[in-house]
Amino acid sequence: MNVMPLSSSVVHTLHIELADRSYPILVGDALLDQLQTWESLPSATQAVIVTNQTVAPLYLERLRTVLSQRFPKVQVVVLPDGEVYKNWETLQTIFDALLQHACDRKTLMFALGGGVVGDMTGFAAACYMRGVPFVQVPTTLLAQVDSSVGGKTGINHPLGKNMIGAFYQPVQVVCDLSTLQTLPDREFSAGLAEVIKYGPIYDLDFLAWIDHHMDDLMQREPEALAVAVRRSCEIKAAVVSADERESGLRAILNFGHTFGHAIEAGMGYGAWLHGEAVGCGMIMAARLSHAMGMLHADRVTALHALIQRAGLPTVAPRLSEGRDNAAAYLSHMRVDKKAEAGAIRFVLIDDAGQAHLKSAPDSLVAEVIEASSI
Ligand code: NAD
Ligand code: GLY
Repeated sequence: MNVMPLSSSVVHTLHIELADRSYPILVGDALLDQLQTWESLPSATQAVIVTNQTVAPLYLERLRTVLSQRFPKVQVVVLPDGEVYKNWETLQTIFDALLQHACDRKTLMFALGGGVVGDMTGFAAACYMRGVPFVQVPTTLLAQVDSSVGGKTGINHPLGKNMIGAFYQPVQVVCDLSTLQTLPDREFSAGLAEVIKYGPIYDLDFLAWIDHHMDDLMQREPEALAVAVRRSCEIKAAVVSADERESGLRAILNFGHTFGHAIEAGMGYGAWLHGEAVGCGMIMAARLSHAMGMLHADRVTALHALIQRAGLPTVAPRLSEGRDNAAAYLSHMRVDKKAEAGAIRFVLIDDAGQAHLKSAPDSLVAEVIEASSI
């Protein structure tokens, strides 16, 4: 990967190319307060900022102030914080607020927060009056490198992660890198899992760059963050532009997610962070790739070491005792969105840095689960 020296004050604009649903992704420092950041947005009767109880005290006033200069009215909806609230009840409170404020079709919604706020706000925007535009203002690393880009929106069902939702693209994504400085360490590490993900599935040079700069990333060094967010968004934009609705290629972005979603659902949403579950799930998927004869053992070891250096858990939790553990994983994985006619499909990787969507024998998957669990 040819990484140019980068000043963190530079604003980079990337593009998702989706015909009339194309949009820019802005990546830079202190973008939130600048009127210029919001200048190209469509006009609106009201702006509605959806955020949560943790992010509101940190960034809401800054966004509200600048948007007040741009839109006639600015309303605010503050949600409770946590994956456990990514559900129908919370979604309903967004609709309640939109109706109480008499929001019409020319309302522009803003998702200010991490992936939970982004996924729910996007889904609310997709549904309200059959669709109003929305802007993603991601404030976690995970949301900046993954969830805010690409238009997957939705909520969890107790029986399956992100099972209810819609593909609905934002009109703009604004990644203000300076917001990442206030993230708790655990959340920051969870975001690194999704950064690492892009390496083995798409860009081995980027994987080598991450390996070389992991210490800088862990120290949240602004130049390293800027490169990581920009390259991750570039890859995500390329994949989504080629396959918006996941009829093929986009499934590679779910590397580690099949095992990861089983961990999240099996442990109860919120017990493991999404990024933590994905990090551990990537190790399991790499082990399965090795067991399927696709990946050299050294690559599995290297990925394991990198995920550990990112401060992420590398040992899978037991979802049930004894032999039931593998059965519990398998039963959660059968409701994965990639499953077809009950057959689980995994994103597996090879030594050339390519990802493949494949089924694997349950017995082999069970061996990997047992070898990976405490
Ligand atoms: P999150 O939204 O729960 O945010 C993590 C925590 O950080 C929360 O407590 C939040 O309040 C807090 N926070 C946010 N910004 C902060 C800041 N700047 N400073 C301090 N605290 C801050 O979690 P997440 O990791 O951002 O997102 C995970 C969610 O994203 C999951 O629900 C997952 O399913 C979803 N996701 C969606 C996609 C997609 O394509 N739509 C992709 C990946 C993940
Ligand atoms: N995070 C997976 C996707 O956007 O497709």
